[in-house]
Amino acid sequence: MTASHLLTLAEREHWALGAFNAANLETLQAIFQAASALAAPVLIESSPGETAFVGETALRALVDAYRERYGVHAYLNLDHAETLEQAERGLGAGYDLIHLDASEQPYAENVRVTRSIVEAAHRQHRLVEGELEHIPGSSSRHAALPATAQRQTTHTDPDRAESYVRATNVDTLAVSIGNVHGVYAQPPTLNFERLHAIRSAVRCHLSLHGGSGIRDADIRQAIQLGIAKINVNSELRLAYLEALQRAVKKPKEVAVYKFMPPVIAAVQRVVEAKLTLFGSAGKAKRTWVKRMIG
Ligand code: 13P
Repeated sequence: MTASHLLTLAEREHWALGAFNAANLETLQAIFQAASALAAPVLIESSPGETAFVGETALRALVDAYRERYGVHAYLNLDHAETLEQAERGLGAGYDLIHLDASEQPYAENVRVTRSIVEAAHRQHRLVEGELEHIPGSSSRHAALPATAQRQTTHTDPDRAESYVRATNVDTLAVSIGNVHGVYAQPPTLNFERLHAIRSAVRCHLSLHGGSGIRDADIRQAIQLGIAKINVNSELRLAYLEALQRAVKKPKEVAVYKFMPPVIAAVQRVVEAKLTLFGSAGKAKRTWVKRMIG
């Protein structure tokens, strides 16, 4: 089973692969434990900051080790690589999927660099995700309304998306339909009419960034309309921080790993809820995978 098979199946059967950011061991364990408990396939991903913090090769090695330890179908995604060099480094380190976010570059430059990484990645049977309109915000808690971040972007135009996908040959397109990175004072409003039009216009897979803080009903509808991959970071970060703040109130404990289980459990609960919502729970069961491969 490859990430490509999973995205195709997810799209065909109207469920989505969860892509969860991991910047440390506890978050990684939480994601693997959730995926293992629910027999869900999963993408582990690292943003540029997270990648620099852990190191590409270290993260690759950890994901490989945890795949074995937990028996999980897990794939590694480079999230929002900002330059061709970062994307190439990810490819060199063995990331299974590369998201090159050149959305803030002029269109021609976006196409040039994205196409270049697609050619390199496809030679190694890896996947590339492209981004056309910048998805605003940051993976944090924001006191503002989502409209504040949404003002910084335009929704993906279906015709432009079709030309972009044809010119770059990306496997996946990150859509901009009102989704924003982070958790805001209110959930964002998604443009489902636009999503439907994008789905009809392009042949590649569609990915939804900013998976935190979106209403459950809206996530379900986005999946029904063709979203096959959903990125989640902020809700994991917030669960981690809140649980850690509670855990370090015990003044006597100095063995770090001993106060981490409740932190891991808090992040795991968030991941399990998302895997259930995305419909990917149970999709990695051996019988199911066998049936789907034929
Ligand atoms: P959130 O922080 O809103 O979950 O978004 C994460 C993301 O899209 C990473 O690419």
